[in-house]
Amino acid sequence: MTRRPLIAGNWKMNGLRSDLAWMDTLGAELEGGRPDCDLVLFPPATLIGGLIEPGQAQGVSIGGQDCAPAASGAHTGDISAEMLADLGCSHVIVGHSERRADHGETDAQVRAKAEAALRAGLTPIICIGETLDDREAGRAEAVVTAQLQASAPDAPASLVVIAYEPIWAIGTGRTASDDDAQAMHAAIRANWRGDDAQALRILYGGSVKPDNAKGLLSRPDIDGALVGGASLDAQSFAAIARCVR
Ligand code: 13P
Repeated sequence: MTRRPLIAGNWKMNGLRSDLAWMDTLGAELEGGRPDCDLVLFPPATLIGGLIEPGQAQGVSIGGQDCAPAASGAHTGDISAEMLADLGCSHVIVGHSERRADHGETDAQVRAKAEAALRAGLTPIICIGETLDDREAGRAEAVVTAQLQASAPDAPASLVVIAYEPIWAIGTGRTASDDDAQAMHAAIRANWRGDDAQALRILYGGSVKPDNAKGLLSRPDIDGALVGGASLDAQSFAAIARCVR
């Protein structure tokens, strides 16, 4: 089973209209040879509309950073998966650790959001990951596999993506070693509840940069990267994409 690598950029709460030119810069960077992988960008919701068409021109899909479980209704400030699909999005991140921390999102809510994404025809990127305390106490694998069981919907593996993002590696410049990341990805695959785990794409996230991407992406169970800070710069994002095996 070959899984197509996926390199995703999560801009988080960064980006103004002046940053729409990122897509042209990326296009110019990739002109010399397109990496053999899927590329998806997750800009803030305010920029999605302005990036769909430029993204299509460059072969970059666009996704939302979050979605509401409901399709519509009295939920001021929320954006539904159906609304993202209506704009032309193909993916949505659910359960990012920053949303779990800032908004108290639980595994059950994350699962409901992932189900909403599937209902709307979007691919959910379901984020899981342990704290530094969990890792130091030797319970990282137990915590992450429990999050997987509780956050992932009952769906074919080909319709969802898992992102393993150790919380201590996000925005800190520290990454999991290639060996630790590979071991966790293998554990996630082994704990996937369906019998189609070989089709499951599992991304690594947490301080992925051009100089550490190659080692991570060469591991057998690491199918791509969810890149935060380094995705704000189109040249670094392209450099990471060029590291796919
Ligand atoms: P950084 O790459 O900035 O560490 O962020 C990772 C992340 O949270 C992507 O979703």
